[in-house]
Amino acid sequence: MDTVKKFSAVTVALHWLVALGILGLIAVGIYMVETESFHLYHIHKSFGLLVFAVILVRLTWRWRNGLPQPVRAMSKVEHHTAVAAHLVLLILTVVLPITGMIYSGASGNGFGIFSFEIFPSRYANGQAIPFSQQWSDLGQAAHGLLGYLLLILIALHAAAALKHHLLDKDGTLLRMLGRRVD
Ligand code: HEM
Ligand code: HEM
Repeated sequence: MDTVKKFSAVTVALHWLVALGILGLIAVGIYMVETESFHLYHIHKSFGLLVFAVILVRLTWRWRNGLPQPVRAMSKVEHHTAVAAHLVLLILTVVLPITGMIYSGASGNGFGIFSFEIFPSRYANGQAIPFSQQWSDLGQAAHGLLGYLLLILIALHAAAALKHHLLDKDGTLLRMLGRRVD
């Protein structure tokens, strides 16, 4: 379990595993859409679903542990901002892959983890036949918008972590790197 002075190895491992996974998925997602690299779509979906599984484990872990307590005395505003930012990050990491599944499922492209099919595709003459055009459009728009929103929030979140480390010189970042802070 986490304490104010030290985070458990599970918290640290889950944070960095999900952080790396999400950053990789955002980079590949934007690249494949911009360059129309359709061969990357299945890889993005497969890893997206694997990372989604880790995200669900992380959410359960957070539920049991509560959100991190500040390493030092902080103003109410600063603490509440951190809690709100962490909650939004947690919620977005769950909602984003779900919108990807809604789009892929409803558009008739299907999804699965590598050769393991989870939701079937529906093709005719090499074209995907949507199960629902409405849900497909909604899922696609939400996945794109929320993906960019998450990227902005991550940049702010990483900047806040660096501010703690470099300007405030407190143990916030070191604690998430597994170090004991006194
Ligand atoms: C890329 C560089 C990143 C850095 C430097 C970083 C740093 C940190 C630090 C220092 C904390 C602890 C804050 C505290 O003690 O109050 C933290 C917590 C957190 N971070 Fe990050 N983070 C990064 C990426 C991400 C990403 C990509 C996500 C997910 C979208 C994320 C989601 C969270 C969440 C939800 C928490 C709350 C604690 C928890 O659930 O484990 N972080 N991060
Ligand atoms: C946390 C996990 C995920 C992240 C961070 C993520 C992120 C992204 C991003 C940033 C894009 C580019 C959006 C754009 O430029 O419009 C994208 C595209 C896409 N993602 Fe994900 N994704 C994740 C999971 C998934 C999952 C689980 C699926 C489906 C099973 C999926 C299916 C897609 C598809 C089909 C596209 C192409 C959308 C288009 O052509 O407009 N993603 N993803």
